[in-house]
Amino acid sequence: MKQDELKQQAALAALDYIPDNGILGIGSGSTVNLFIAALASKAHLLETTVASSVASFNLLKQYKIPVAEFNQVGNIDVYIDGADEINPHFQMIKGGGGCLLREKILATAAKKFVCIADESKLVTALGAFPVAIEVLPMAQSYVARELVKLGGLPVLREGFLTDNHNIILDVHDLPLHEPLALEEKLAAIPGVLGSGLFAHRPADSLLLATKLGVQVKERR
Ligand code: A5P
Repeated sequence: MKQDELKQQAALAALDYIPDNGILGIGSGSTVNLFIAALASKAHLLETTVASSVASFNLLKQYKIPVAEFNQVGNIDVYIDGADEINPHFQMIKGGGGCLLREKILATAAKKFVCIADESKLVTALGAFPVAIEVLPMAQSYVARELVKLGGLPVLREGFLTDNHNIILDVHDLPLHEPLALEEKLAAIPGVLGSGLFAHRPADSLLLATKLGVQVKERR
């Protein structure tokens, strides 16, 4: 089975997690795009959705699914999003699509975070995928030097600006054996607006699409 077919399986499985008459946070990326398409026929069950990116917002609108600004709603009942890597503690590297800051805000505000992924995303240890860092443009050089001090190799994502008009540094080789501590160190660098390391807000459930079907895993 191809990766896209597995992503589709994970996306369909997430339909079981739509909160009845509740607020659904929607992540970003190709797996989430498949989820949004599947959600169209179930949108009447929701109060509304909130999107983690302009792309997801526009796609929700395109499918005529109600979508509100985050400031207009209260708590998010369920947040559904993909990941670039997820470890057995359900800590993740996200941000391949550059939407990590809004994703982390919605994920942290949500009562429940459901990660949808194909089996290639499950890793024993995070770190093969670079950690995306959203940076205030005027602080690029300073932040890059601080990231090198942490052991990382920052690479500017050329020609890319986030929905918040900031730049992304993709950082390779960061020491990821203590994800909680590293996430704190990254957040403490002035000029860093957010990192794609999701250690303090791991997923609660993982819908992992494998060639043998979708495995539903709960964080222990
Ligand atoms: C977007 O910024 C990311 O966090 C995505 O959730 C992540 O890159 C997974 O994307 P795919 O579903 O496209 O693999």
